[in-house]
Amino acid sequence: MNKISLIHEGKAKKVWQTEDQDLIIQEFKDDATAFNNKKKGSIADKGVTNNAISCRLFTMLGENGIPTHFVSQPNDRDMLCKSLDIIKVEVVTRNVAAGSLVRRYGFAEGTVLAKPIVELYLKDDDLDDPLMNDEHAVALGVATCEEVASLKELAAKINALLVPWFAERHLRLVDFKLEFGRHKGEILLGDEISPDTCRFWDAESGEKLDKDRFRLDLGGVEDAYSEVKRRVLGL
Ligand code: TMP
Ligand code: ASP
Repeated sequence: MNKISLIHEGKAKKVWQTEDQDLIIQEFKDDATAFNNKKKGSIADKGVTNNAISCRLFTMLGENGIPTHFVSQPNDRDMLCKSLDIIKVEVVTRNVAAGSLVRRYGFAEGTVLAKPIVELYLKDDDLDDPLMNDEHAVALGVATCEEVASLKELAAKINALLVPWFAERHLRLVDFKLEFGRHKGEILLGDEISPDTCRFWDAESGEKLDKDRFRLDLGGVEDAYSEVKRRVLGL
């Protein structure tokens, strides 16, 4: 499958149309941004690392009954996917308090949440991806009531699959962001799952092994991403 034309260039990926109308290629870049593009940089080999991690995770989720856009991994940087009509909602699931949950509500970082929290954000960079509830999403016309219910149900199922899977690899899944899209009448999991879109803490030491190392200038960013890749691929 070949890249025919560039459909979209995002912060971390390029999306290419292929010769098959139903298939696109996500090309993972090394560029890194945080705080809605206010902080910019690059993480060596991030594209290759995140593609490998995402392909493994989408395969595992697919094998466990989650409908995803993943088709195959043609090479190091590319993921061949079903084309989606992206739903403009970012679905964040949290198991442990960190990041904006700490800033917004005053939780102590590391507080284990009695029950996972699922949050919806409007996918709109101009508005800085504001937090919203189900009714905002429906009123804005970004998703129907039924679709919002499906997104939340899928996020909960995915969390229930990912938490023990990462625990076996000595990683604590603190929180993560998912995106979904419509394809031939079905809602599929789209985008990526990687240290860019998840918080991972080492199960024993609590060391941060994700994009927070870049966001917070903690150093060791490349090593953290490679360590997650090593554990995810079982290397
Ligand atoms: P937050 O604590 O900053 O709201 O982030 C929650 C999770 O969502 C965290 O794992 C990082 C991920 N995330 C993204 O993937 N993209 C984003 O634009 C933001 C703000 C967070
Ligand atoms: N992905 C967002 C950005 O590019 C925010 C983040 O991950 O912190 O700015």
